[in-house]
Amino acid sequence: MTKPWPTPRHPGAALVAPSILSADFAAMGRECRGVLDAGADLLHIDVMDGHFVPNLTMGPDMVRALRAACPDAFLDVHLMVTDPARFVEPFAEAGADHLSFHLEVVSGRAAHDLLDRVRSLGPSAGLAINPGTDPDDHKDAIEAADLLVVMGVVPGYSGQKLIEGSLEAVKQVRETSGTPVEFDGGITVANAYRVRESGSSVLVGGSSVFDRSSENRADAIRALSGS
Ligand code: DX5
Ligand code: ZN
Repeated sequence: MTKPWPTPRHPGAALVAPSILSADFAAMGRECRGVLDAGADLLHIDVMDGHFVPNLTMGPDMVRALRAACPDAFLDVHLMVTDPARFVEPFAEAGADHLSFHLEVVSGRAAHDLLDRVRSLGPSAGLAINPGTDPDDHKDAIEAADLLVVMGVVPGYSGQKLIEGSLEAVKQVRETSGTPVEFDGGITVANAYRVRESGSSVLVGGSSVFDRSSENRADAIRALSGS
């Protein structure tokens, strides 16, 4: 079944999606319950295959474990993999609520078909673009997606600096499409305002949330949301 996306806790606020890539892997259940209790709206799960990006992270078993540890959480899975079609079924079966895959590896008719396949499996379906990929080259596919993930960094690692051109890409998308934008990478408490101003309605935060003590995470989440 398709689960609806969470609604912001305050009118006009952005949704905040902590990226568990920056969490303590040895305490993942506690880390995730902690940020949800601290006000996070959903959890962002970064899947990397060591091929589309240089890093290796997690697979469907992590999603299955989080589904059990946080039964009500909305699980937003970001597939940074060269062959997403191979993995949509195992992630849907493991309990993902949303799956995004990259336009650099699947585009045109194939992107439309894979979006449809994801939805037929239950999750909502999104696309993602790297810095340097022009959203105007993919207008039709973006229009067909439930969400567009705009990368604020070259994907692979948490804690990188935001690339300013990505904010322009968000504005460009929002001018030409009704598809909601999730901004992923490089967000800090200090620049979150500009990310929201660009038209992004979901803010992913890795280091900005998890690289602080658990008592201070609620403040960071509030700052990212703009409430
Ligand atoms: C990019 C990942 C991001 C990233 C976010 O490599 O998709 O989700 O880990 O981390 P921060 O917020 O630290 O840039
Ligand atoms: Zn991500």
